Amino acid sequence: MAWSSPSNIALIKYWGKKPTQIPCNASISFTLTEAKTTTQLHFAPRKDQNEWINFLFEGKESPSFSSRIYKTFESWDRFLPFLHQFSFRIESENSFPHSSGIASSASSMSALALCLCEMEIQLIGGIRDENFYRKASFLSRLGSGSACRSIYQQVAAWGRSDAIAHSHDEYAIPIEGIDPVFHNFCDTIVIVNGTQKAVSSTKGHELMNSNPFAPIRYQLAESNMEKIMAALRSGDLDTFGQIVEDEALQLHALMMCSSPSYILMHPNTLQCINEIRTFRADTKIPIYFTLDAGPNVHILYPQDKQTQCVKFIHEMIMPLSEDNYAIYDRVGMGPQNLKG
Ligand code: DP6
Repeated sequence: MAWSSPSNIALIKYWGKKPTQIPCNASISFTLTEAKTTTQLHFAPRKDQNEWINFLFEGKESPSFSSRIYKTFESWDRFLPFLHQFSFRIESENSFPHSSGIASSASSMSALALCLCEMEIQLIGGIRDENFYRKASFLSRLGSGSACRSIYQQVAAWGRSDAIAHSHDEYAIPIEGIDPVFHNFCDTIVIVNGTQKAVSSTKGHELMNSNPFAPIRYQLAESNMEKIMAALRSGDLDTFGQIVEDEALQLHALMMCSSPSYILMHPNTLQCINEIRTFRADTKIPIYFTLDAGPNVHILYPQDKQTQCVKFIHEMIMPLSEDNYAIYDRVGMGPQNLKG
């Protein structure tokens, strides 16, 4: 069986967690289209206790990914009791170069969780209904928090929030009733620096436990969630953009006042931000930036402004990128089942 699953970009950021993978605040994201992982899962009854998971990333063994997958399988064992009875060969590939600095944990963990939920259907029956996707989201979360949002098309939210009915800390839910302007919103991911991050997201979450600004951050995230939900529903691009940019800068401000402090932005990240703000002020085009936990810049704009925005990106932003590399992505339809 095989699934492809896209990456997602958070609008309200998940930053800070409690055991076991419970977020300290609710988050919401756009599910993307082009940046994705395709995973094939092969399984057979387990003959040898020493042989459980054989993981190939882009055709090669990868010890660092394998150990994360091994740990994730251990955490899934309670919810997929058949896991220990089989041996697995997992083949995974990304649509983007591994060295691009684009986090692949969301797409890869969600693709893998979907394959295992599919396997469960094959073994014990069932259909791909709401519960199937909810379980895939729940399992994805145990692999990597942000992965649980990639299960759903367009917009997904994870974590309990008063602003979102039925929101839950253990899985993401799809957000419906979004203004059509957001259904195909563009996200150009500009690779400013592709080298591996000095501080992983997992470590970054941990540093929130001692961050003096953590309590106020969690309050701000909740009030930003209320505002962005209203903006997503009404199509209010000004409010949307203001919240999205505030969230990106708050995320990086939290890193700068962690102990020890660290900076993941690159000088060209700031340069991109300034260019985007200047272009917006000059043209009144609703173009905004967001960042994940790294130096690369996500440039968000509506599809009907694509021509002007792509021209601006080519002229002003690409010279700031590494190796002239960007992914022209957009909000998309979520994971795809590739083999019956
Ligand atoms: C800044 O989901 O990568 O991208 O749960 O430890 O795997 P783990 O962390 P991860 O953190 C993502 C942080 C973020 C914001 C977000 O996607 O909400």
